[in-house]
Amino acid sequence: MALQITGLRKEFGGVVALAGVDVSIELDRIVGIIGPNGSGKTTLFNVVAGVHRPTSGRVLWQGKDITGKPAYQIARMGIVRTFQQAMSYRGLSVRENVRIASEHGRSYGGAARPKWDSPDEILAFVGLAGLGNEMAGSMPFGNLRRLGVAVALAANPLLLLLDEPAAGLSENEIAELMELILRFPRMGIGVCLIDHDMFLMSTLCERLVVLNFGTKIAEGPPTLVLNDPKVTEVYLGNEI
Ligand SMILES: Nc1ncnc2c1ncn2[C@@H]1O[C@H](COP(=O)(O)OP(=O)(O)OP(=O)(O)O)[C@@H](O)[C@H]1O
Ligand SMILES: [Mg+2]
Repeated sequence: MALQITGLRKEFGGVVALAGVDVSIELDRIVGIIGPNGSGKTTLFNVVAGVHRPTSGRVLWQGKDITGKPAYQIARMGIVRTFQQAMSYRGLSVRENVRIASEHGRSYGGAARPKWDSPDEILAFVGLAGLGNEMAGSMPFGNLRRLGVAVALAANPLLLLLDEPAAGLSENEIAELMELILRFPRMGIGVCLIDHDMFLMSTLCERLVVLNFGTKIAEGPPTLVLNDPKVTEVYLGNEI
């Protein structure tokens, strides 16, 4: 198992965001994390990616204990996240955004797994061919999302953590995003995906992990998990 999370707990003051979660992730597939708002999904990503130190528990990556390591070290080891909010240097060109990310990745050892020859190759891969000179801040939201994925890819990840990549996208954009995400496992890039779009999640993910109040309440193939009474109960009145 490439990523092994055991007993992960994270408290913010009196708030228990993660109450002891176990999750394992392989590199050649897409694993989904679902759960109601505030159930701890983003916190799980933040702890794995080194944004937050866990209160307790362990994160093993390719057999190494990376618990509590800083984000830049974890990124150079191949775990790269995108943000729930589309983030980029809005005053720089699209190409510059990707170039900066790739230099950062390389300078921290990403050269061990070179996948891309140029920023433009990555831009073409995510569907932004020909837009390298655009100012990032002037792009429509759907393209900013693609840029977020391009920036993550530029760091040569082995595991991509995608936090709500479909939020705010049109149906067409979601369909294109789904095609893009499906290409990652074939390239040897594992994907861990958070999203509230259950069609997207059940179509893309081989396995779903369900969080509720920081606790894993179900795990398995989407068809089984989404029909599990424990799961339908927490989504009562919601979109599932
Ligand atoms: N930096 C923080 N400081 C304090 N509390 C936080 C912090 N980050 C998250 N929390 C709290 O931890 C809990 C879990 O939040 P988290 O963002 O992980 O949920 P989520 O499942 O990603 O929700 P959503 O679907 O709305 O994105 C919430 O109660 C949230 O308010
Ligand atoms: Mg979140």
